[in-house]
Amino acid sequence: MNKPKTVVVGITGGIAAYKIAELVSRLYKNGFNVQVVMTKHATRFITPLTLRTLSNNPVLVDMFDESGTHRVQHIGVAEEADILVIAPATANIIAKMACGIADDLLSTIVLATRAPVLLAPSMNTNMYDHPATQDNIRKLKDRGVTILEPAEGELACGVTGRGRLPEIETIYDKIIDVLEDRPRDLVNKTILVTAGATQEDIDPVRFITNHSTGKMGYALAAAAVRRGARVFLVSGPTYLTVPDGVESRQVRSAREMNDICHELFGQVDVVIGAAAVADYRPLDYSDEKLKKNDNDMVIKLTRNPDILEGLGKRKQHQILVGFAAETSDVIQNARQKMQKKNLDLLVANDLTVEGAGFAGDTNIVTLLFKDGREEKLPLMSKLEVAGVILDAVLELF
Ligand code: CTP
Repeated sequence: MNKPKTVVVGITGGIAAYKIAELVSRLYKNGFNVQVVMTKHATRFITPLTLRTLSNNPVLVDMFDESGTHRVQHIGVAEEADILVIAPATANIIAKMACGIADDLLSTIVLATRAPVLLAPSMNTNMYDHPATQDNIRKLKDRGVTILEPAEGELACGVTGRGRLPEIETIYDKIIDVLEDRPRDLVNKTILVTAGATQEDIDPVRFITNHSTGKMGYALAAAAVRRGARVFLVSGPTYLTVPDGVESRQVRSAREMNDICHELFGQVDVVIGAAAVADYRPLDYSDEKLKKNDNDMVIKLTRNPDILEGLGKRKQHQILVGFAAETSDVIQNARQKMQKKNLDLLVANDLTVEGAGFAGDTNIVTLLFKDGREEKLPLMSKLEVAGVILDAVLELF
């Protein structure tokens, strides 16, 4: 097994510091070695004990603390880092970095490391917009530091504006992105990804849907576009943001999703069906809201088109990839699906295993190839799973 990558997470003294507990926990759960370094001010916002527990590593605060694991603490940590992430990054640490000031453990590690550095600034809008901060940010960008744009919204100080810490998911994905440094090996390929749940209307106010969040499909779209592919994302309703560079088509019902997929099919090289498409819809749609009475109600359902199966029948040069979410006889059921839908690759997940399937940020899958090969993968983030699926697709070309 490869040695786990080390993510050094620097936390500075901003109110958003408490949110970093979630980032640390997610990094640890996804197999990273997480080394937290806090400034003294940061310890006023969240305790080192919380972060030590979540990272499973001692938290470093003091430059001259001798309990650490390295002979020369700041140099050891700086050399061990595969990436240094500072979140939240205050105006102060940004200014110190721009000037090369090293007056505490974190700022000293910043100077000593040769690892890529990622900053997630978070502060009051006026402080962020101040020409001094903006100059410093520009300087750091010119030196190759990756800086995430703060989000807009209500800030802890009561003001509404730019300055919120980006979503933890955004920071996490950026870390993976920087660490992966993947080749642009999908240039000239067009990939269609379906994602999310469909909604099947019963009447103007009610519909049938399922628990899919769309995370796996969006991760695939993001990963493919980063590797240079042209990506169409046909998605059911989700709260996720469409990744930069992806051409998205938002739909609600299985039939709408089916129509768009068939329309785009001629232009694409790969279809990845990550959507949880409703297999049935109400047979009769009521234009008016259904009224209740004292009796039970029966809603008759009728079959929806199977999108992948339909595309499988039209397949020429295209590579078709499907997902199978199973709760029993995982591999056997998945193999049957693969044959029925004429798929080249099937990503099977066992919903009974913790960490797999809907809603979470992780997945545990087995890749099944048409030639009978099987590749069982460990617990990975959905973005990592996306990377492995795209590697497998590339192999099939
Ligand atoms: N799929 C599709 N169109 C449908 C249903 C599913 O394209 N109407 C795709 C999904 O995107 C996924 C795969 O087919 O890639 C899932 O196959 P399916 O047989 O529908 O799996 P389940 O919904 O788990 O079906 P079953 O209830 O038969 O286990």
